[in-house]
Amino acid sequence: MTRKTYLLSSTVLTMFALCGCTGMQRASQTADAVAVLSPTQGNDAHGTVYFTRVKDGVRIDGEITSLKPGSHGFHIHEKGDCSAPDASSAGGHYNPTKMPHGSPSSAQRHMGDFGNIEANASGVAKFSRIDQTATLDGPNSIIGHAVVVHVDPDDLKSQPAGNAGKRVACGVIGKK
Ligand code: CU
Ligand code: ZN
Repeated sequence: MTRKTYLLSSTVLTMFALCGCTGMQRASQTADAVAVLSPTQGNDAHGTVYFTRVKDGVRIDGEITSLKPGSHGFHIHEKGDCSAPDASSAGGHYNPTKMPHGSPSSAQRHMGDFGNIEANASGVAKFSRIDQTATLDGPNSIIGHAVVVHVDPDDLKSQPAGNAGKRVACGVIGKK
């Protein structure tokens, strides 16, 4: 190995070592799309969600902070508009295939039905999952639509939106 090659490989190794490469750090570098979520009026919840094309669908890596501990409904909503103080401007669940509300594993579900995220005792929800229904391509792409986090859990069955309560954070998905 030449000295130059050696230096190069040790630099690359150091970068991996420093990175430690959690899902979020990897996603921030390799994701295809991203949504930065801001709190709705009277809330503090905020964070970032990355979307990456993978063989089985779309990998969703995210971290949302300043939530109350516990489960929170987590969806893609139809309109890429978080401008209303309560994020009602984002409309209902993204549902290009005209299905009923369901869980991420339901055969029939809104494309935007990502179920729940879990906030720990410090109010932080970190997650990395693959969704086999969502797509970043074609007419039903989720790009340009909104990611919404709710105050309450999605019960995964109530129509039309899982009874997840108010919207605490919202962000529009953009190409990265
Ligand atoms: Cu929602
Ligand atoms: Zn739904």
